[in-house]
Amino acid sequence: MEGYKRFLSFLAFSTVFGFAAVLFVLVWVLLWREGLGWDGGAPEFNWHPVLAVSGFIFIQGIAIIVYRLPWTWRCSKRLMKCIHAGLNTVAFILMSISLVAVFDFHNAKNIPNMYSLHSWIGLAAVILYSLQLFIGFLVYLLPFSPAFLRSALLPVHTYSGILIFGTVIAAALMGITEKLIFSLFPFSKPGKSAFGFATGEPLTKRTSGCATAKTNPQEQQKHFLFDRGKKQLVKAIKHRKCFMNDQEL
Ligand code: HEM
Repeated sequence: MEGYKRFLSFLAFSTVFGFAAVLFVLVWVLLWREGLGWDGGAPEFNWHPVLAVSGFIFIQGIAIIVYRLPWTWRCSKRLMKCIHAGLNTVAFILMSISLVAVFDFHNAKNIPNMYSLHSWIGLAAVILYSLQLFIGFLVYLLPFSPAFLRSALLPVHTYSGILIFGTVIAAALMGITEKLIFSLFPFSKPGKSAFGFATGEPLTKRTSGCATAKTNPQEQQKHFLFDRGKKQLVKAIKHRKCFMNDQEL
């Protein structure tokens, strides 16, 4: 029970900070960075952090932990795979729009593209993410991929998913720092910078919450099952067995 409670607290912690990250970035661009628009100016650039944080961090975070949510364990594996793939696709689409916004803004203002560490790390994360999405779709959603390939790829898929998520957070933190350096130099506007830097806080908490909830599932599942009495335990174990069946991976 102890482990299950800990799992739920990490889940709550990660969800609260995920919402806070989206809220902070919205407040930042709406109150201090000229709002949102699609005009080749600052409001168009602002879609970049807003969509990166809400799509690539918030929604990707939900996609990562969706299999660990206790209320989803009774759903079929096929349905869960579709939800996982669907959330990752939405995250990818939002991130692509966010990139169009920043490239378009640079081109409109005659600013060179891809000149910073942030942009190279960010683009690498997006390319790896699209590969992960494509391979995941081929191997886990198409019916003709062999069972041995599905189980062999699973640890690689899980590990690279968390690695990409960590890289995305690093890129976001670099992006925030860079934007603040560009816009606040010589640091004479403490109110603006405080809120921009504060956005980094929920971002890091969101990652640690998701990573912990994702990588420590066994204990929590056991406690959850024991809590629901013997009859339900037998039912649930049978259900988990079908989940673990190679055909279902
Ligand atoms: C989290 C995922 C993110 C990814 C994958 C990402 C990726 C990128 C890429 C590829 C560029 C280059 C665009 C170009 O050269 O035209 C870029 C530019 C930029 N991004 Fe991000 N970004 C992310 C989040 C953020 C956030 C949260 C901010 C905060 C404001 C931000 C601020 C910037 C800035 C200021 C630029 C223009 C300067 C530069 O190219 O480094 N980014 N980003």
